[in-house]
Amino acid sequence: MNNLPIGVFDSGLGGLTVLNELVKILPEEKFIYLADLKYSPYGEKSEQELEHIVKRILKYFVEKQVKLIVVACNTASTLDLIKKNEYEGIPILNVIDAAVDVVDDEVKDLLLIATKKTTESSTYDEKIKIKNPNIKLTKQACPKFVPAIEAGDLSDEDIQDMVDQYLAKYREKKIDAAILGCTHYPLWYNFIEKSLNPQVKIYNPAQNLALKVKEFLEKENFTNKDDSYKIAVSTGIKEEFEKKSKKILKNYKFDKVEEINIDF
Ligand code: DGL
Repeated sequence: MNNLPIGVFDSGLGGLTVLNELVKILPEEKFIYLADLKYSPYGEKSEQELEHIVKRILKYFVEKQVKLIVVACNTASTLDLIKKNEYEGIPILNVIDAAVDVVDDEVKDLLLIATKKTTESSTYDEKIKIKNPNIKLTKQACPKFVPAIEAGDLSDEDIQDMVDQYLAKYREKKIDAAILGCTHYPLWYNFIEKSLNPQVKIYNPAQNLALKVKEFLEKENFTNKDDSYKIAVSTGIKEEFEKKSKKILKNYKFDKVEEINIDF
């Protein structure tokens, strides 16, 4: 069990913000990163569609015999399928639990910045309520962000305009903190920071998710004793993913990038 890989997935590039943190604190582990570019963006899909999409990924990881599945996607983390925290006996850790976890006790007015699907789901509301019933949660969907981040062709000025379009209005509102509730958004951290008031604390849950993975592996005695590797699989064009991901990966490379078809 120990020497099996960890499966990590997202609709595309966003989950790499999580993989960066995982590789940083668990360099000795084996990772298979799945970028589901064929169905990106997830944020606009219906519940049924998304469930079908995510099921094929879970099945793929079962076939690959991973020891743990890390859901590096908030939108997928809203599904009941994921909330069960296991699939066919394989444990699952999701980014929403890690996000809710990092919110400080003194926060009163919290802004969730996320995809349409995530903001329409009650997952964050329920989990924040359990953590601290005094928090007032405001949710803002930013449907243009993920397609623009994936395309990667906007100028800095155009990115700032797009971010301001959704977030500048919160400068006039009482907000103590904001959650980057989509794993793509840390890639636009500086623009989001500029759009909000300077005193707003911005939470990126990626680091905490990586910590939770480390704690889990240690607690279960699942740490790898074998050689490590990092493999990426893409359901979209391999060369495109390879080129774009290179700009995001921090101090490591994928040992292999493959194009896969996992539809059923
Ligand atoms: N990065 C994802 C998330 O955290 C998916 C976004 C999308 O594909 O719309 O929600």
